[in-house]
Amino acid sequence: MSVDAAAARIREETELEPLVGLVLGSGLGALADGLDDRVEIDYRDIPGWPVSTAAGHAGTLVVGTMEGVPVACMRGRAHLYEGVGAERVAFGVRVLGRLGIRTLVVTNAAGGISPEYRPGLLVLISDHVNLQGTSPLLGPNDDSLGPRFPDMSDAYDPELRARARDAAARLSIELGEGVYGAWLGPQFETPAEIRFMRAVGCDLAGMSTVQEVIAARHLGIRVLGVSVVTNMAAGVLPEKIDHEAVLEVGARAAGSLTRLLRELVPTLAA
Ligand code: HPA
Repeated sequence: MSVDAAAARIREETELEPLVGLVLGSGLGALADGLDDRVEIDYRDIPGWPVSTAAGHAGTLVVGTMEGVPVACMRGRAHLYEGVGAERVAFGVRVLGRLGIRTLVVTNAAGGISPEYRPGLLVLISDHVNLQGTSPLLGPNDDSLGPRFPDMSDAYDPELRARARDAAARLSIELGEGVYGAWLGPQFETPAEIRFMRAVGCDLAGMSTVQEVIAARHLGIRVLGVSVVTNMAAGVLPEKIDHEAVLEVGARAAGSLTRLLRELVPTLAA
């Protein structure tokens, strides 16, 4: 299914040309409700768009403006653990790229590996370790999209991170910073796996984001990532991990993430 056909379908619904794309993770979709001039398109109505089956993922694309800046929000995303390939997981980001976004904001729920974190904390992603064993760039390279071997240093743009820290400080929102480790899932990690992830430099454990970020960097789109720590990762605390609790903490922290993004996103278009 072609990226062009999907982009053309979206253009039938709105004349806005989004500059910023947002991927809103589990329970983090509320930001899209506050957009002006908004149109909401069901993923099922966009040719080729993977339909997410994860709980808490609505599965719509919302295009609108935030303080006059045209944005496109993916409410819900596809995950590798749903059984789709990396290229499908990255499809939405490539469509947003075709619509013209220059900046992508990725959000997710993650387990905290760093002992400095606690559930509810927002953490700016400084880098990632892709432990998912795949890439959306597998196969022949489309040179019109980007290079065969894209550089991944500064994948999470240092200047955008500085703006995020400033915005958080203005709002008195505590913001950690750390490395996101991407796990295939859908099972949570074992304590031994979390010790491995800590040893290789991961501060956060999650099951999304990196395929989207690779596709965005391939297209030359700047990326900002924020995780919500919904639980401490396996073995960090004596408790077990419960998906319901993950969603609940995510919903509680969504308020501060939404405030942060409202402050920050209008500054990202420039
Ligand atoms: N591990 C992986 N993904 C997650 C977690 C976790 O502990 N919490 C939320 N998403």
